[in-house]
Amino acid sequence: MGRLISIASGKGGTGKTTTTANLSIALGKLGFKVCAVDADLTMANLSLVMGIDDASVTLHDVLAGRNLIKDAIYATAFENVYLVPAAIDWEHVIRADPRKLPEATQELKGMFDFVLIDSPAGLQMDAMNAMLSGEEVLLVTNPEISCLTDTMKVGIVLKKAGLAVLGFVLNRYGASENDVPPDVAEEVMEIRLLEVIPEDPNVREATLEGIPVVEYKPKSEGAQAFMSLAEKIARIAGVKARVMG
Ligand SMILES: Nc1ncnc2c1ncn2[C@@H]1O[C@H](COP(=O)(O)OP(=O)(O)O)[C@@H](O)[C@H]1O
Ligand SMILES: [Mg+2]
Repeated sequence: MGRLISIASGKGGTGKTTTTANLSIALGKLGFKVCAVDADLTMANLSLVMGIDDASVTLHDVLAGRNLIKDAIYATAFENVYLVPAAIDWEHVIRADPRKLPEATQELKGMFDFVLIDSPAGLQMDAMNAMLSGEEVLLVTNPEISCLTDTMKVGIVLKKAGLAVLGFVLNRYGASENDVPPDVAEEVMEIRLLEVIPEDPNVREATLEGIPVVEYKPKSEGAQAFMSLAEKIARIAGVKARVMG
């Protein structure tokens, strides 16, 4: 059985989608069969970031009860990596019932080694449904105090709800001299710091090209940090993760 990992944060724009895309491809490179799920149902952009923008069946159709999840799985251009894309038009968005997400992701669990769920930010209902459809959670934050504390709140709520908190990623580190240093961030969060991802212009350039940075510029600092994150996550056994959080 595969591992279901939600990618979550307190605020928007911290790098959840970027992390989902790069971690998926990095795990694929390590030989795991991976499915990334675009579960940010109203602000979906993982599909675009991963180069799929013309899917005929989407997660929204599945959540509207129109299609089965197996019909919404697409092979990507990246080795071992599949995607369940989202629709972006409002007609699809209003018909989709986010409460059906856990059932859909459970089905994926039997088909993949890793299922990564790109979730909306915060603790509103949509975000809760997406995050709780995972069994483990990887938190993504930026090195600013309000971002850290918001993400910490999400971590606390999800832990209470029974998810295993794998740890957090400190993304976009080094952009400002006022950045909270990694050791201080870990102290504030009281959650294990898994990886520091530097601010790297290659990450954004890659996004614009529609090819996530681990594939676009594998030697860049950003790409290497995502590869290192994937290796760490692969080493944490699913069961062991339960007692760590
Ligand atoms: N480490 C990084 N270095 C530079 N730019 C980054 C980095 N991580 C993310 N970005 C950029 O930040 C923006 C927001 O990232 P995104 O993954 O969409 O955030 P979220 O999904 O949390 O809203 C994107 O333009 C992305 O390319
Ligand atoms: Mg996003």
